[in-house]
Amino acid sequence: MAVSTLPMTETAYQRCLNPACLATLGVDQSAFSCPRCGDLLDVVYDWDRLPVPRRLGDFSAKWANRLDPLCFSGVWRFRELLPFAPPDQIVTIGEGQTILQSADAVGRYVGLNPGRLKLQYEGLNPSGSFKDNGMTAAFTHARMVGARRVACASTGNTSAALAVYCSATPYGFKAIIFIGSGRISYGKLAQALDHGALTIQIVGDFDDAMERVRQVADRLGIYLMNSVNPFRLEGQKTIMYRVLESLAWEPPDWIVVPGGNLGNSSAFGKAFLELKYLGLIDRVPRLAVINASGAQTLDQLVSAHGLTWSDGLPDMEIPRQYYTALDAERMKASTIASAIEINRPVNLKKCLRALDFCDGVVRQVGDQEIMDAKAQVGAGGLGCEPASAASVAGARKLRAEGVIGADETVVCILTGHQLKDPTATVAYHGTDQDNFEKVLGSRGVRRAGFANRPVVVPNDLDDILRTIHLYSETRDAAVRDD
Ligand code: F0G
Repeated sequence: MAVSTLPMTETAYQRCLNPACLATLGVDQSAFSCPRCGDLLDVVYDWDRLPVPRRLGDFSAKWANRLDPLCFSGVWRFRELLPFAPPDQIVTIGEGQTILQSADAVGRYVGLNPGRLKLQYEGLNPSGSFKDNGMTAAFTHARMVGARRVACASTGNTSAALAVYCSATPYGFKAIIFIGSGRISYGKLAQALDHGALTIQIVGDFDDAMERVRQVADRLGIYLMNSVNPFRLEGQKTIMYRVLESLAWEPPDWIVVPGGNLGNSSAFGKAFLELKYLGLIDRVPRLAVINASGAQTLDQLVSAHGLTWSDGLPDMEIPRQYYTALDAERMKASTIASAIEINRPVNLKKCLRALDFCDGVVRQVGDQEIMDAKAQVGAGGLGCEPASAASVAGARKLRAEGVIGADETVVCILTGHQLKDPTATVAYHGTDQDNFEKVLGSRGVRRAGFANRPVVVPNDLDDILRTIHLYSETRDAAVRDD
């Protein structure tokens, strides 16, 4: 593999994140970590030699040309900001048709003034989560390098997206996915199976699966689709472009995002770094990354142990000691938000860069707060899976602390669709106490304060009519009191 420390002559190349190494690789290589020092790789552009729009508003014109798949895609519509691929190599299934919704009822729950909370609904993607933004970019790169077998470890959404892109595109891609057995929700497992992925359930959790898939990909030369793949993150930058587009190109005050493997937060930071460098925005939103309490590595490292980016040389002894302690205590990640049940986030360093550039904060929220926030999101309009609701619960916490002001504009990223995890939703709203205990009580959730209970009625017309009458009145009264 050709490694160099000199700037590449191409306009796009890969570069080691470590400023003490800065090895470079062409975009025709698939390494997934620096071949010289093992650190993360970035995709880097020589912007001076690339045609970049002078104003973000210029992108609005693309929509008029949406019969062209590259203008229809909510990712490739912005391709001048991720210019690593020849247009004829792009693999797209029409991802990124997502919306930013004003959500005043949820905003009230968070503690924000009317018009201030926006929910960026990434559940609208073809596979039902934000992952498609990254997959379209990584599959494009896989096609450029001639890969056929593609693999990932997953808490469910990456694997679902991977399976969809393999089955929905005509390029002969074969999906191999690694999941922790019993660790992914049914909606996601169903997608992997339905779309024909070779599904390997290993006895262990996501962190175990991640370690194994890297070994297997290395040994068998399989293309790796996890977010250590820097091309994934190029696609995920576009979530921020669409947020800006929906706000008429005016940056919000806050972006709040759940943190698992830290791909999104890393990608968002890179998006803003580049937009600022290019003079396309003059103000950078603050970033809040929200862990689940049962998978709180980032919050521990940053908030409790003071880990910072330090100009690209963070003190990695801090995470090393933290992981050693986790191992010594045999501590495994555990949260109802299974999508972010991750203790060893692979993009830690890139996330530190994002936090540094976006004046970021990190918090953790418990499963009770996650499930309550999820019920509020559902009642307020768009549904989401538990991990996504961590963003809303986190915004509420930061609002209560006074870190977020009541009149600031806050965008919470709803990363995955409500139907991804029906088990958690039904356990919260349902009347089956045993099921509640099994699914939620075992994780410390004590109440379902915002439950919308199903009503059991005898199969009798009068009973049914009486029940509708009774419940409609109670609900109308509740709305009046509100
Ligand atoms: N929300 C959802 C719904 C997710 O599926 C994930 C990650 C995250 C948030 C966290 O995002 O990793 O960028 O910090 N899911 C991965 C998976 C790990 O395998 O599907 P992140």
